[in-house]
Amino acid sequence: MDIDKNIDTVVDYLLNTDNVSVLTGAGISAESGISTFRDPDGLWSKFNPQELASIDGFMSNPELVWSWYQYRVNIVNNSIPNPGHYALAEFQNLIKNFSLITQNVDGLHQRAGSKNVVELHGSIVRNKCFDCNKIHTSKIVEHNKISNCIYCNGKIRPDVVWFGEILPRHEIELAQIYAENSKVYFSVGTSAEVYPAADLPLIAKRNGAKLIEINPNDTQLTSFVDVKINLNSGIALPLILEKYKEKKGI
Ligand code: OAD
Repeated sequence: MDIDKNIDTVVDYLLNTDNVSVLTGAGISAESGISTFRDPDGLWSKFNPQELASIDGFMSNPELVWSWYQYRVNIVNNSIPNPGHYALAEFQNLIKNFSLITQNVDGLHQRAGSKNVVELHGSIVRNKCFDCNKIHTSKIVEHNKISNCIYCNGKIRPDVVWFGEILPRHEIELAQIYAENSKVYFSVGTSAEVYPAADLPLIAKRNGAKLIEINPNDTQLTSFVDVKINLNSGIALPLILEKYKEKKGI
């Protein structure tokens, strides 16, 4: 497969539209040292999602769930965005209608400078009350044990979406609108196995978007894409950005 030719095709798509969306998954943060979920050494090969990432898991052992999330918060706090995150942040300043939708909870897109990131699965660096849902600032949250809500005394949990929970309504609606209206849609670093996020690239394709997948491995989305780039996103996205700027004379 000719990577240069594929990158040229993607750049041509981008030069012909002002309407681009990108859906990212754990793979985009892999080069920052944050584990993915379903790769052979991913989190779900070592940890049990039902025990650690579900309402039942939290109700039966809240301290265990809290400490697992604090372990992940610690990894995120010691990580930095990689060239893939930075390339997407720069694209936002170059393309008029550029939306970034992520399944990641690590906040690395925002730390790279991306604005208005649609966080489909919440954020690991934000916490909320299990009972009343109020968001709590980090000031009142202790890291080595579960804190209680100052409003209702419920237990504080991370503001992420667990298995069996529905996605935040505003975020999924916005992501669907972006998918319906994009002319170019990227799926980056996601196995496309978790719904409803996995539907978004297909919604874009059905509505006429050119669909591009950036992932060193194939996924169930691969057979539907217009262009597949078999590279790590920290390599592919800066290459696309440089070529785009060169052709635009920026
Ligand atoms: P997965 O772990 O399922 O998939 C990660 C994808 O990234 C795989 O297809 C890898 O091939 C790819 N990948 C690995 N390294 C890469 C790199 N450097 N550049 C580009 N791609 C790379 O992660 P997600 O698809 O994000 O949900 O998983 C979706 C959801 O499942 C997560 O948000 C999480 C999880 O359970 C919740 O916690 C609700």
